[in-house]
Amino acid sequence: MSPTERQTEQADMPATSSSLLRTPLIELTDLSFAYPGLEPVLEGASMRLMPGERLSLVGPNGAGKSTLLKIIMGLLAPTGGTITAFGKPCVVEADFHDMRRRVGLVFQDADDQLFCPTVAEDVAFGPLNLGKSKHEALAIVDRVLTRLGLTHLRDRVTHKLSGGEKRLVTLATVLAMEPEVLILDEPTNALDPSNYARLIEILNGLDQAILLVSHDPDFRAEIAPRGYRLAGRALTRF
Ligand SMILES: Nc1ncnc2c1ncn2[C@@H]1O[C@H](COP(=O)(O)OP(=O)(O)O)[C@@H](O)[C@H]1O
Ligand SMILES: [Mg+2]
Repeated sequence: MSPTERQTEQADMPATSSSLLRTPLIELTDLSFAYPGLEPVLEGASMRLMPGERLSLVGPNGAGKSTLLKIIMGLLAPTGGTITAFGKPCVVEADFHDMRRRVGLVFQDADDQLFCPTVAEDVAFGPLNLGKSKHEALAIVDRVLTRLGLTHLRDRVTHKLSGGEKRLVTLATVLAMEPEVLILDEPTNALDPSNYARLIEILNGLDQAILLVSHDPDFRAEIAPRGYRLAGRALTRF
């Protein structure tokens, strides 16, 4: 089929069937999970993130939002249900290893994510781990820090940064891996008004699909007004 024929065929298809043909970036089907010895956190939780989509995930404290994100990333194993990323089922650690190259999670607690002596080393860690040379990794560090307006923090000792500075550096460490999907867990925690505004500007300048956990309705309105509510152990669209 020539490209022109294909375009004509796509143009003739109803919008619904063309969207059905797209592969979800992330699809969760009937997930269940309980921490050992505790009441279940998830039961029959399903959701889908499509290419280019930006969705919020909301729900009360303790509902299981961070737990769900850890399950998506393969950091916790569900007791039931399936996780599919980029059309491929994620079952064993090798599957999650592949998906973690393409999906970046900014943790709720920056201290869980920053572990190198300096900011530059933390940002270079991911690219080096993906096999980039030291020279390439340093170029990425400079590019990402410039993009986020953080070059002044480049050689600072990570654990001495303020809470808000750490949050932006964790975003830098994730963007340095050039993920196709960005997952953010309460990214506005500890941000002052100017960094809050800058984070909105940065996120709105990115191409990635986003899954955003945030209690802040104003922030959600700017980044991802629609999404899923986690309540009663399951997910519903809003
Ligand atoms: N490591 C853990 N071990 C046992 N229980 C946990 C652990 N982490 C979270 N929980 C519990 O699981 C529930 C969901 O927590 P969490 O996913 O952090 O909720 P949210 O992010 O929506 O506030 C809470 O009741 C919390 O206390
Ligand atoms: Mg949480």
